[in-house]
Amino acid sequence: MENMHTDDNFVDLDLTPQEFREIGYRVVDMIADYYSTVRDAPVFPPHKSANVEEVFEEPLPERGQDPTEILNDWQNKVLPNTTHLGSPRYFGFVNGSGTMIGTLADTLAASVNMNAGAWKAAPAATEIERRTIAWISEIINYSPECGGLFTSGGTMANFTAIETALRNVAPYDTTADGLQSEDSPGRFTIYMSDHEGHISITRVADLLNLGRNAVRRLASWDDFTMDVQDLERMLDEDTANGDVPFCVVAQVGSINVGAVDPLEDIARICLDRGIWFHADGACGALGAMLPGKKPLFKGLEKADSVTLDPHKWLYIPYECGCVLVRNPEKLRRAFSMTAPYLRGTLPTEYTGLDYLEYGPQMSRGFRALKVWMSLKHYGTDGYRTLLGQNVKCVEHLDKLVRESSDFEALHKPMLLIYSFRYAPEALRNKTDESTEASDEINAYLDRLNQQIADEIQLSGVAFIMTSKVRGQVVLRLSICSHRTTLDDIDLVFAKIIEIGTQLQSQS
Ligand SMILES: Cc1ncc(COP(=O)(O)O)c(C=O)c1O
Repeated sequence: MENMHTDDNFVDLDLTPQEFREIGYRVVDMIADYYSTVRDAPVFPPHKSANVEEVFEEPLPERGQDPTEILNDWQNKVLPNTTHLGSPRYFGFVNGSGTMIGTLADTLAASVNMNAGAWKAAPAATEIERRTIAWISEIINYSPECGGLFTSGGTMANFTAIETALRNVAPYDTTADGLQSEDSPGRFTIYMSDHEGHISITRVADLLNLGRNAVRRLASWDDFTMDVQDLERMLDEDTANGDVPFCVVAQVGSINVGAVDPLEDIARICLDRGIWFHADGACGALGAMLPGKKPLFKGLEKADSVTLDPHKWLYIPYECGCVLVRNPEKLRRAFSMTAPYLRGTLPTEYTGLDYLEYGPQMSRGFRALKVWMSLKHYGTDGYRTLLGQNVKCVEHLDKLVRESSDFEALHKPMLLIYSFRYAPEALRNKTDESTEASDEINAYLDRLNQQIADEIQLSGVAFIMTSKVRGQVVLRLSICSHRTTLDDIDLVFAKIIEIGTQLQSQS
């Protein structure tokens, strides 16, 4: 066709294929170099936030820059100010390490720029997501008929599950009427254990505007699992008071100790009462693939919904959470909405599943690709081995803790998270002398454990954090790097002793 427009002012700012190749090859080299050094690099950059802020203080670029210079910024500004979640000795929060093929998958996904909200905008992405969700369900022995989708993380996965619960369990149509109904004035309430229930559920109560007090905290046993008798008692009490209990959240691999709540009992109670049973397996549900851990997960298959985080225990690069719902129609009932601009094509044989009708996001990235590729790369065999290694590291750490008189073990090793206390025996013995002495020693040990974690971060040897278990500050390691070995555990344990001894001699 003859070119009818001759406006020379139109510019093409794309790189030429040759330019793209050159820059792209450099990026691949940079990433490969990164991977070859990440094991030995200081895990945390000891720079204060003000210093890091200063590094990036620059005006909005008015004129375009040479991509080579932009890549130099990555090397000179970004990497030196990065905490290396890919290090085998990064044990902070519950952060996975990132698979290499996941990195490549994210690059490929960005190149085609698919929007996985609608089938017609992303046929392959939609079908890959559907297939990968089915694989994940199979891995954890969940229902083959389930629906589900990938989310930004565990919090949004929990939000998706609990909104689905509310929409399907409430005694009137909350989709249309929200939280107000003259027929049902009671407050919608959610239940989880007091010690280990995760704060993301409180965030969900916020997002749903239920009020944070809608999250009822239940007693737990010495092993940190939910006391189901207390659950029944509280459900009776709240119902009698006019509240509307609609969802029980079981922890499947809890945040401090990796506890798994009694899933069978919770399933039975929820079924009897018509309440939604949600299993928050953000950091533990994938452990169901380990043959030795199967008994822990009995009853998971009965949950109405399960959440789990591929960006934690499948080591997928950020972001990637996942929600599974046993009856996909219930997910659709919660999120389906339509508008002429969303339905702008006639239903034809090409019409497929539109994920925008199954979750809170409309536009959605191609998150499934990195999970799909990582599962293909390692296979379930490979993943079983990697997860098994993490569990071995936790068991090894527990053994070191129990063999040393300088430490206090607080729980049995379960999955990938382990909490313990640096508490030399001489000090522990003093806690028996009087309540006053005990308070003083415990306050000192709280400070000491916090200082140990802080010093280790600054040393660059490892990144560990603290949490609180039964009111005491503890050291907490979340071991979900596919690179961590027993040697890494030995190294960080020796460092804890070194720093603990040093701090004590100074006090
Ligand atoms: C049990 C549990 N649920 C939910 C979340 C929230 O996940 P995310 O940080 O991916 O939103 C976490 C995070 O650690 C978790 O441990």
